[in-house]
Amino acid sequence: MIKAMDGLNGSVVSEFVLLGLSGSWETKVILMITFSLLYLGIILGNLFIIFLVIADSHLHSPMYFLLANLSFNDVGLSSTTVPRMITDLLKEHKVISFQSCMTQTCFIHAMGGAELVLLIAMAFDRYAAICKPLHYLTIMSPKTCFLLIVTSWVTGVIHAMTQFSFVINLPFCGPNKIDSFCCDFPRIIQLACSDAANFEFVVTANSGILTTGTFFLLLLSYAFILITVWKRSSGDLSKALGTLSAHITVVILFFIPCIFVYIWPFPTSSVDKYMFIVDFAITPALNPVIYTLRNKDIKIATQRLSKRCHCDRFC
Ligand SMILES: *[C@@H]1O[C@H](CO)[C@@H](O)[C@H](O)[C@H]1NC(C)=O
Repeated sequence: MIKAMDGLNGSVVSEFVLLGLSGSWETKVILMITFSLLYLGIILGNLFIIFLVIADSHLHSPMYFLLANLSFNDVGLSSTTVPRMITDLLKEHKVISFQSCMTQTCFIHAMGGAELVLLIAMAFDRYAAICKPLHYLTIMSPKTCFLLIVTSWVTGVIHAMTQFSFVINLPFCGPNKIDSFCCDFPRIIQLACSDAANFEFVVTANSGILTTGTFFLLLLSYAFILITVWKRSSGDLSKALGTLSAHITVVILFFIPCIFVYIWPFPTSSVDKYMFIVDFAITPALNPVIYTLRNKDIKIATQRLSKRCHCDRFC
């Protein structure tokens, strides 16, 4: 069992208490139903995308492989937080062990970090497709795709582990109440008994710079793609905007809450705990909607699939 020892008096914290949401019984039931439906939507919607991309050979292209990987990552990201959030809602005493808390935090950051790199990879894919159409398939070869996916996982793990290695060495000697639905580095650091200001800076700098930097990088690359298209012929602009608007929407939805949480420290307010809900429950549920509703290929593939199922049964 991992225990965080306090160097001075040897007292330990072996579990944390998640304060979660305080409210009336009715509010909690309504939230429980809402989150359960959202979670169901996340699982069904994202698994549907993965299934469609694997099953339909017309979707065997870098863009859809990356999209399927994003869906896979979204399922993982919300599965580390949302089920526990739902079951905790009706519990009076929401205890989480020290190990579970650290595990949850590491998973959140590993998958969050992977998500950042996947979003960059998707922007790069669109850049290659729109700005270098003749070389698209050589730039985004299966090998490049595979490398991008591997890079996303490696980056996520390194990102999580660097912060974990700081936090695991902090002394926790008493305070163990986390005013949130889930564990996260900034929240855990606040409970440490040493002067945690420096550590807080390390974690905020790591996650904060990473998210803000990536956000502006992505916005700049999408702007660059649009300007390139617009210079070439203004007729193509609306077409490119049609394709890119889904990507840009997802980027904004994912990053705004992240930036709020990590750059804008709200040590006394609980705004960031609600911000997290957006990233773990709302964005992953919206991703499939955003990508499928606006996407002709996916719509056609869905029709093909339903025809095939229909035929299998009746032909
Ligand atoms: C992720 O991308 C890889 C490489 O492009 C692809 O082979 C794989 O099927 C994708 N994973 C999922 C879950 O779709």
